[in-house]
Amino acid sequence: NIEDKVTALLNEMTLEEKIGQMNQYNGFWDFTGPSPADGESKKYDHLRKGYVGSMLNVRGVKDVRAVQKIAVEESRLGIPLIIGFDVIHGYKTISPIPLAESASWDLEAIKKSAQVAAEEASAAGINWTFAPMVDISRDARWGRVMEGAGEDTYLGSKIAVARVQGFQGDDLSKHYTIAACAKHFAGYGFAESGRDYNTVDVGTSTLNNIIFPPFKAATEAGVRTFMNSFNELNGVPATGNIYLQRDVLKDKWKFDGFVVSDWGSITEMIAHGHAKDGKHAAEIAVNAGSDMDMESYLYVEELAKLVKEGKVKESVIDDAVRRILRVKFELGLFDDPYKYCDEDREKETIGKQAIQDAVLDMAKKSIVLLKNDNSLLPLKKEGQKIAIIGALANDKTSPLGSWRIAADDSTAVSVLEGMQKYSGNKITYAKGADVTIGKTEFVSELKINTTDKSGFSEAITVAKNADIVIMVLGEHGLQSGEGRSRTELGLPGVQQELLEAVYNVNKNIVLVLNNGRPLTINWADKNIPAIVEAWHLGTQSGNAITQILYGDYNPSGKLPMTFPRSVGQVPIYYNYKNTGRPVMPAPDIVFWSHYSDEDNSPLYPFGHGLSYTTFEYKNLSVTNVSKNKVKISVSVTNTGKLKGKEVIQLYLQDMYASVTRPVKELKGFELAEFNPNETKVFDFILTEKELGFYSNEGEFIVEPGEFKVFVGGSSKTVLEKEFELK
Ligand code: IFM
Repeated sequence: NIEDKVTALLNEMTLEEKIGQMNQYNGFWDFTGPSPADGESKKYDHLRKGYVGSMLNVRGVKDVRAVQKIAVEESRLGIPLIIGFDVIHGYKTISPIPLAESASWDLEAIKKSAQVAAEEASAAGINWTFAPMVDISRDARWGRVMEGAGEDTYLGSKIAVARVQGFQGDDLSKHYTIAACAKHFAGYGFAESGRDYNTVDVGTSTLNNIIFPPFKAATEAGVRTFMNSFNELNGVPATGNIYLQRDVLKDKWKFDGFVVSDWGSITEMIAHGHAKDGKHAAEIAVNAGSDMDMESYLYVEELAKLVKEGKVKESVIDDAVRRILRVKFELGLFDDPYKYCDEDREKETIGKQAIQDAVLDMAKKSIVLLKNDNSLLPLKKEGQKIAIIGALANDKTSPLGSWRIAADDSTAVSVLEGMQKYSGNKITYAKGADVTIGKTEFVSELKINTTDKSGFSEAITVAKNADIVIMVLGEHGLQSGEGRSRTELGLPGVQQELLEAVYNVNKNIVLVLNNGRPLTINWADKNIPAIVEAWHLGTQSGNAITQILYGDYNPSGKLPMTFPRSVGQVPIYYNYKNTGRPVMPAPDIVFWSHYSDEDNSPLYPFGHGLSYTTFEYKNLSVTNVSKNKVKISVSVTNTGKLKGKEVIQLYLQDMYASVTRPVKELKGFELAEFNPNETKVFDFILTEKELGFYSNEGEFIVEPGEFKVFVGGSSKTVLEKEFELK
């Protein structure tokens, strides 16, 4: 039994060895070369002494084996390291960014995507990913929305579970599964004004009803680790937050895995103005329940002193170490520390066809058809002159998106490559304009081309001679992600001008968007007949987009985040509160909740997405089954000519409550495929879980009263009915 083994091992450990388990270092030298000189030699000594419990950013069998060998064969107790890495959307073969995957609303596909990512990463020596990010966010200015499941807590919770199950499988000790990490606990997605790392100040209702549920769902799905967060939450940094880590996570939710700090977030409590110095920060963090220190170097430096001074109880250390060792035992690292270090498996697995097929499938499912006037899409396969325009159309790196550390540059299939595989049409290409200038690296500020329009004339010439123009525009893959907040959400640089210049000579434009967040594309929505949301789709990007454009795959994605009309509307989300003044009281009267220069409504609502076929919703009925149990039925028909998939979405409004409820909240959905003319009936059972909410005291309650149910193919639903809960 694992607990007995952990106890036995704990009994053998010195205080310093215990603290060592709570210390995580970043990869810091060539592990296969000679041992490091000066600066890094301390870390090397720590490994040999057993003062390191985990490494991150060491990858590849050769390196992982080398570092594991030091820990296992040179340290006194030979405790294996847990090897962490940001496997966010694939390891070397890259799947769509998580926001894009979430647009599929396809939980099986998302689970499979995490599963193949785990298979590839584990073959490269990794046994722990810092994913999934389950932060809900309503602010497209925040660069990290690309990494989450969007704005909705219900969808986000389902996706959190799918991702945890995909990474961890049924059995963590299998060599192809890895430990997952729910991050960032908590509130990171609510950074003020969308500026990364900024202050978070939210009330208990938002915390309990919006922010917590995906974390709780991940816990219930058995996620083995949590990462805390850079932000402060209501005045206390998450890293030093007892309420979050001890009261909620470990006590209330009974989480028995371990919590890792975010990178340097223990030290950052000094800058936050919460800790006096490093020693104080270590004391606060460990007492608050941060079990492992990522790159603050403070536990290894300060904890032993703090224990001796009585500021940290040894039982706190023991609890943290028990949690870490428990996960290491579950991974099977004590049975075989080299189980993830098989060169043959690494060679066979990385980039293999089955993984390419899975990421291609996920990419097709992630695409959202935003607009398709006069059925401009799908394209005809023959006899067309097609102009492809845009630097991003010919970019093999940008589609990999942010957070793809192990993937090599230029390994994605570009749209141009994908389109050129179809021989029936004549393809011409013009760049039009660069999106970025200079270096594009994970750590550097990107420079956007705001002046160079020298390629416009070539673009105009190819557009003039084409039957149809495909314009691939939007954000470079590194314009979203950590540290990449924006105040403007339009097409970056000169791309809007390019779009309008091309439109002046040819209006038959299909706009393919590349982006890691919702964009404000009002002009395009008004003028461009077809718009395809293609996000950053990963290695197979160009193939997936081509299959959609030609109709070999009928799009079925639905937006997981609202698209605003203007940045001034942000944060904008479908499950807003009604306010006391939701409508204009009389013509021309200003005293209601609105803007004088913009509609309240979004450009594209949450859940929106078209298909090459059409669907009709009918016969919504509600039956009270028993106390706090309601059955909702609806019939849906494919009224178009093609086979296609639809996400049937069910929303609920609790009309009045002790804590006001949103105008509607997603409470059920089903993804189903229909043949032309086929009708299917869907039954949704709503129980207390869907009908209730968290009070301001954090209690989950169901209140009797009137409810409204809405059903449709987006949050702008087509059918509604009222019912009463007695
Ligand atoms: O996992 C990440 C986290 O999301 C942001 N800071 C760095 C960590 C490790 O790379």
